[in-house]
Amino acid sequence: MIPIAKACLDGNEKKYLQECVDTEWISSAGKFVDQFESLNAEFYKTKYAVAVSNGTVAIHLALLALGIKAGDEVIVPDFTFAATANAVLYIGAKPILCDVKADTWNIDINKCKSLISDKTRAIIPVHVYGQACDMDEIMTFAKENSLFVIEDCAEAHGAEYKGQKVGSFGDIACFSFFGNKIITTGEGGICTTNSYKLNEKMRVLRDHGMNKQKRYFHDEVGYNYRMTNMQAAVGVAQMENVNIILKKRKEIEAAYSRILKKSEHIELRKKDDGKVNWLYSFLVKNANLETITEIQQELKKEGIDSRPFFFPMHTMPPYKDLKKTDLENSISIASRGLSLPTYNQIEIKTVEHIAKTVVSIIEKLV
Ligand SMILES: Cc1ncc(COP(=O)(O)O)c(C=O)c1O
Repeated sequence: MIPIAKACLDGNEKKYLQECVDTEWISSAGKFVDQFESLNAEFYKTKYAVAVSNGTVAIHLALLALGIKAGDEVIVPDFTFAATANAVLYIGAKPILCDVKADTWNIDINKCKSLISDKTRAIIPVHVYGQACDMDEIMTFAKENSLFVIEDCAEAHGAEYKGQKVGSFGDIACFSFFGNKIITTGEGGICTTNSYKLNEKMRVLRDHGMNKQKRYFHDEVGYNYRMTNMQAAVGVAQMENVNIILKKRKEIEAAYSRILKKSEHIELRKKDDGKVNWLYSFLVKNANLETITEIQQELKKEGIDSRPFFFPMHTMPPYKDLKKTDLENSISIASRGLSLPTYNQIEIKTVEHIAKTVVSIIEKLV
């Protein structure tokens, strides 16, 4: 079976991990954590980067550092992975679900204007499937309404908006390094920011709220959200190859698109040169979830794994009663989307074979 995703660990990952074992620095202190933070801050051109144990806690930490409290409202897209809204719920705050745009699949600011209340404190734009949100529009909206901006960059390492990398626009940006992500540390996350105060606050909160000068004295209730030196060791090796990884993924995207764009049944996402190729994803015209499942079953028979899109948030039990906009695009995109194998080791001829197989299956089914 050709897998949907696979970590690519062909750089110094093993060497650096071995160094952790040899030096016995396996917990959350150690040189790799500092190095990994510096490499990220350098790559995203932010002043600071705070490494944490996964991408979900990165969002939770960002919300905590910004002082979001129970009862506050935070705007999130309806079309995203559940972690975006879950982190808001951990705070006791309320996620407000906003529709996405039909062509970019990213949050549609125009639609959520009517949902602003005196409790709205922040917005979390998600650069879903590797494509940057319209950050001009979002930053203007946030300024007009005095909202904090937390970018969810879990799927968008290296993506750019007007030549600037995502992760450097908002008050804080959050990345995930889960095994299927563009850059992985197995499990892991990071928060980038340009704010000295937010950086300091996040460092204290990720370390049990412990006072930096007076050890074992806790000024507030914090969390253990630290990244280990072993995770960071893998991350440093990954970041050494980040541009090679991104380039190969672009080639994979181009190979898929070359073939898929010729099918009248397939709808590709709005073209954006700043996009990164996390999981190659597209829509099937006039399809629904059942059609997508059938396509997946046919692909499986050919030894090809695939993935349907996220369910719209409001269709799942914990989120069904949240305040929301109309969600027609989120519903339509979520029920017609499919992601195909995307990982660095895949050969272009395999990508072409998958794309041709997809086209012939869809021509038969739709
Ligand atoms: C959009 C989005 N946000 C947040 C997360 C959470 O990251 P993690 O799985 O590292 O907790 C993920 C990924 O899994 C994601 O895709």
